[in-house]
Amino acid sequence: MKLLILIIALSSAVLAGSYGKGDVAPVTDELYKKECGSCHFAYQPGLLPSNAWNKMMLNLGDHFGSDASLAKEDYDSILAYLNKNSAEKFANYKRSAKILNSLKAKEVPESISKTPYMIKKHREIRENLITQKEVKGLFNCIACHTTAEKGIYSERDIRIPNFGRWED
Ligand code: HEC
Ligand code: HEC
Repeated sequence: MKLLILIIALSSAVLAGSYGKGDVAPVTDELYKKECGSCHFAYQPGLLPSNAWNKMMLNLGDHFGSDASLAKEDYDSILAYLNKNSAEKFANYKRSAKILNSLKAKEVPESISKTPYMIKKHREIRENLITQKEVKGLFNCIACHTTAEKGIYSERDIRIPNFGRWED
């Protein structure tokens, strides 16, 4: 009897742990949230490998057609934060590992939505649901993933505007 209780206690602890952990590590840096979350939500660093963040940070003056330049001090701090928390560092988070594993050996992706894993995961969504004005593009994760800011991208939390829940 005691053993049974122990087993139940242990397995629920394991389940709670794996649920609470989410898909990628949530953003913890306030400066990053402020500077890199003003035009779009602050993407978790664990969504890209460091080589991709470094490449993006080299050209903030022409960041997808926008000027996202930073003061030197903020730049250094954000670059360090991204490198410390990139996908390689969080390979124990399910989605970081899958994004990494989908890349070829020397591949440096231009964006999160252009990684092979993301393309594969979103290829069944009708194009007009992605381009509609309430979403604009795949870059706008929070338009469909209601818990994206917590680093949780599970299917049960998806609500696509003008479509609703996603059921496979
Ligand atoms: C001035 C507005 C602006 C700021 C500030 C800004 N971005 Fe962006 N960012 C954009 C735009 C515009 C896009 C392109 C969206 C699209 O695909 O049309 C983008 C796209 C991205 C993407 C690719 C999303 C995808 O589709 O995978 C990443 C990653 C990103 N930004 C990271 C950052 C980081 C890191 C910072 C802070 C250093 C930052 N952004 C600051 C405007 C901004
Ligand atoms: C137009 C709505 C929409 C946008 C925008 C969007 N997603 Fe998704 N995403 C979905 C849907 C729907 C699925 C489930 C697809 C399937 O299972 O066939 C999904 C699946 C995923 C999955 C896999 C979840 C699982 O349980 O397998 C991840 C991770 C993910 N999206 C991350 C992102 C990120 C990061 C962004 C932004 C760069 C993003 N998504 C933008 C709708 C969207």
